[in-house]
Amino acid sequence: MKFLITGGAGFIGSTIASAMIDAGHTPIILDSLITGRKEFTRDRIFYHADIADTAAVEQIFRDHPDIQATIHCAALIIVPESTAMPYEYYRENVAKSIELFHTLNRLGYKRVLFSSSASVYDLVPGFMVREDSPLRPDSPYARTKFMMEMVLRDFCTAYGMKGIALRYFNPIGADPKMRSGIHVPKPSLVIAKLVDTAQGRQETFDITGVDWPTRDGSGIRDYIHVWDLAQAHLKAVEDFDGVFERAGDPQDNYLVINLGTGNGVTVKELVSAFEKVYGRPINKRECPPRPGDVAGAFANNDRARQLIGWQPQLSIEQCIADALKWGETRVQMLHYDE
Ligand SMILES: NC(=O)c1ccc[n+]([C@@H]2O[C@H](COP(=O)([O-])OP(=O)(O)OC[C@H]3O[C@@H](n4cnc5c(N)ncnc54)[C@H](O)[C@@H]3O)[C@@H](O)[C@H]2O)c1
Repeated sequence: MKFLITGGAGFIGSTIASAMIDAGHTPIILDSLITGRKEFTRDRIFYHADIADTAAVEQIFRDHPDIQATIHCAALIIVPESTAMPYEYYRENVAKSIELFHTLNRLGYKRVLFSSSASVYDLVPGFMVREDSPLRPDSPYARTKFMMEMVLRDFCTAYGMKGIALRYFNPIGADPKMRSGIHVPKPSLVIAKLVDTAQGRQETFDITGVDWPTRDGSGIRDYIHVWDLAQAHLKAVEDFDGVFERAGDPQDNYLVINLGTGNGVTVKELVSAFEKVYGRPINKRECPPRPGDVAGAFANNDRARQLIGWQPQLSIEQCIADALKWGETRVQMLHYDE
């Protein structure tokens, strides 16, 4: 089967594309390379264009009329940057996504899987969130995700599109075959900072926030192997209509599904697991939280199990091992102009 992946030159989109290839499907990649990597599109069907470039999107569907569904991963994703550059974030993530959804609908390609984020949730006692837990997107980035969920829902109601918003928790690790991984030169994700500290590209790892009301005071997250995340997309698009049938409401063309492991792991627990896999302690220190930091959340993933028939398979240790391996690979594979 063929699927369109926007943002397929990025961390998550490229991993989904790899999972599709391994399963015998054909991913079609649309990416502007605004942040993504050309290296991740090698030997793949790749359109170097913007999601809002209507002519390019039309060309893709002329070339590949048998595309079964669109996985919309393209976005800008850095929370602090979104606070400093809200115009760029609302333009890339909202205005352009609306154009893309409009074009998809006009062309009759109505199945959309949308990359949303757990950052839309409010904090809840006990930290476990279900899809109907209260929302409070508290950065421009999170608000772009929340807005696009609403847009997709309204398009599904008005135009008979079928949309699934997947709320990702904290994807880590890398493609187990090392075809791609986290690619930015100075990654802000906690796992990449651990790897950079271990491999000497960063001096110290900061545990930011040690007074949260969690079991050890450090923030709590739900780290999910990006390969498991990719498998969930694969299962969802392979049986897209089945996901809706299992949801059981024929009137409802829009679904929200959490993608997390269901296990909360604190930053301190992640650091000890990391040191165990790495085999040595790393330089670390405890610091106050950064502005905008929160205690965190982890997923209730019952809906993903029931509707997609998916459950995560890979352990936190596997995430760390693959992240470490990718840390070495990425310096060989990716050349940064610095
Ligand atoms: N990485 C995470 O921790 C995380 C967590 C939750 C949700 N998400 C969501 O998952 C999706 C993928 O994230 P990622 O980590 O792979 O990010 P990434 O930056 O690695 O990939 C995003 C890709 O989108 C492309 N892109 C951006 N704007 C575009 C446009 N207008 N037209 C065409 N291509 C464009 C970029 O070039 C890049 O290749 C995003 O929507 C993000 O919001 C990511």
